[in-house]
Amino acid sequence: MIPELSNGSVLMKDPQRVQEVLQSMLKAGSNTLQVISDFDMTLTRFSYNGKRCPTCHNILDNSKAISNECRLKLDHLLETYYPIEIDTSRSVEEKLPLMVEWWTKAHDLLVEQKIKKDELAQAVRESDAMLREGYEPFFDRLHEQSIPLLIFSAGIGDILEEVIRQANVFHPNVKVISNYMDFDESGMLRAFKGELIHIYNKREGALLNTGHFKELRSKPNVLLMGDSLGDLDMADGVQDMKNILKIGYLNDKVEERKKSYLDSYDIVLVNDESLEIPNAVLHYLT
Ligand code: TMP
Ligand code: MG
Repeated sequence: MIPELSNGSVLMKDPQRVQEVLQSMLKAGSNTLQVISDFDMTLTRFSYNGKRCPTCHNILDNSKAISNECRLKLDHLLETYYPIEIDTSRSVEEKLPLMVEWWTKAHDLLVEQKIKKDELAQAVRESDAMLREGYEPFFDRLHEQSIPLLIFSAGIGDILEEVIRQANVFHPNVKVISNYMDFDESGMLRAFKGELIHIYNKREGALLNTGHFKELRSKPNVLLMGDSLGDLDMADGVQDMKNILKIGYLNDKVEERKKSYLDSYDIVLVNDESLEIPNAVLHYLT
């Protein structure tokens, strides 16, 4: 049906279900489709030439807007908490408070840095951030077909927007739910706005943003894309859902995590740095 699904990087526990969902979505038509995607390590690359690529937070952490002392502290947080994020031996219940701790400590450190709003664009320009290969046809096709794309991220909204703006793909069909910075009158970071979004409360984020999801009620078919098991809840705010197809990027600790990813994502992409499969699915559906 979709030749790319035979690629070596593609794993599916139940290819029959994938086929049925795709057929049902095709029949319903592309005007019933919406895409909900995570950002870091889903729309952006996990690595390039063997080197890790930055998350939204890392873009800022590695920039000139941050002092060396603060950078060391943020690096230390990453070294402490990232292994917990991807640890399969701990339950979500056990990890959740530790993730809140990570985000809270990181945001407190960033606020201490007196970051200026106008430093963000430069931080992104000078960073190694890269959208996945095939991002242009991905964003452009969704725009051309008027398919809404919701980017749901526990990263930093201001940075995320800057990444897609600089890549010329921040089209009007793109909406973002994320952690946004709050600047004072002089343009200096003083806090983060609203409820914190971390990797394990995307469900609450979805429900809190029901206003946004209400607009998408006429789009009962969802293509969901993520790289963490926490991303599976991103579509929880969508009411009257008919079909959902979940595509998961398994970037790290592949052998340990393969089973849990296959149990929860319909299509699992292993060590795949491109958007080839989402693009092939969109090509089939639109
Ligand atoms: P995402 O929801 O867009 O994937 O963003 C969450 C990622 O951000 C998650 O994988 C962990 C990462 N992160 C950092 O790299 N540095 C930090 O300081 C924090 C709090 C999170
Ligand atoms: Mg992610």
